[in-house]
Amino acid sequence: MSKVLSNTELANIADEFGTPVYVYDAEKIKEQYNKLITAFKNTDTVFFYACKALTNINILQYIKSLGPNVDCSSINEVKLALHAGFPPERILYTSNGIAFSEIEEAKDLGVIINIDSLSNLEKFGKKFGHSYPIGIRLRPNIMAGGHIKISTGHEKSKFGIPVEQTDQIISVVDKYNIYINDLHIHTGSEIENVDVFVKGIEVLFDIIPHFRELKVIDLGGGFKVPYQKDDTETDINLLAQKVNELFASHPNPGGRPLQVWFEPGKFLVSECGYFITKVNVIKETTAATFVSVDSGFNHLIRPMFYDAYHRIQNITNPGGAEKIYSVVGNICETDTFAWDRKLNEVREGDYLVFYNAGAYGFQMSSNYNSRLKPAEVFVENGKTKLIRQRDVFEDLLKNQII
Ligand code: LLP
Repeated sequence: MSKVLSNTELANIADEFGTPVYVYDAEKIKEQYNKLITAFKNTDTVFFYACKALTNINILQYIKSLGPNVDCSSINEVKLALHAGFPPERILYTSNGIAFSEIEEAKDLGVIINIDSLSNLEKFGKKFGHSYPIGIRLRPNIMAGGHIKISTGHEKSKFGIPVEQTDQIISVVDKYNIYINDLHIHTGSEIENVDVFVKGIEVLFDIIPHFRELKVIDLGGGFKVPYQKDDTETDINLLAQKVNELFASHPNPGGRPLQVWFEPGKFLVSECGYFITKVNVIKETTAATFVSVDSGFNHLIRPMFYDAYHRIQNITNPGGAEKIYSVVGNICETDTFAWDRKLNEVREGDYLVFYNAGAYGFQMSSNYNSRLKPAEVFVENGKTKLIRQRDVFEDLLKNQII
């Protein structure tokens, strides 16, 4: 049985710390990580937690203690990972579209770097030659992922160097004798079908022989987790089996076994997270019964931005008769969390919980409408700890020059 926090535990947290509040359960993160290492126990695999999903230092430190490395998407995420205690060799910086100066900064910090443009590859080669191993992010021209906005490997995507430019990559690499340690692809988020990864590996198999110092192929993140009841997740056991089979039937031309890296974000932290809101107002109209909570897309933007489905439950009236509601926020824009959703009867003051709120929840929040960002609470070994205090009014003025 998968680990979940009970309604009572969640309601107690909301009573103690107020709403809106993000809550993260350590046990669930551990459960997910264990699934990964168990599935891949017979493969030389390293996991890098894609920390863009959730970067609270307490979460980074907890994940570090479990064992994975960390994948970053900006120099500041690299610095946060260092701050959390990850040594540079356990930090991967998969850059995209960044200024070369940021790549130089990452090199100075000693972290692993994936470069995603010919332009930065050229600059890197010119300046550093063979002295510092790097990875290359490729665009494999594969359409994958749960929504077009989170598909990153297709042929109109800005990410990576298109595979059809492999000749140009080779010529830059040869020109400067660049040390290519890994080839990277990340095709999207919420990839249910493991054959997408198989296709990615097959694309890479054609390119691998060109890089004689290659040690790693990095297949990015994107494992799907269940969002709805009875929803499925990526079958990682099947994926591990297919990865093993592929590598067994395509030995690396150099004769050296390649290590496989993955960068899971959602898989590790989506389900550990709960976002608790309080019902401000119930409004009966001919179109719908609107339930307005003390939040909006300033706190959880996924439903509005990606049409993402987040399960919602009324944890303070779980036995109430079921009715149909539209759950909306209090932002001065249309900020619908859910249309026509069946919930146990909702009363003003009830707590509504949004599930799967760990990944890209708080992390994508803002101060829009000059509202305050929520608090974050971490639950570990039965103890609750406030890991970010709720914004206060002064935070809105903090960087303004008056
Ligand atoms: N590696 C790279 C290079 C990535 O760009 C990403 C996510 C990941 C790993 C982790 O992907 P995951 O395992 O979390 O699916 N905000 C969107 C998701 C954007 C993902 C961006 N890149 C959402 O809330 O659905």
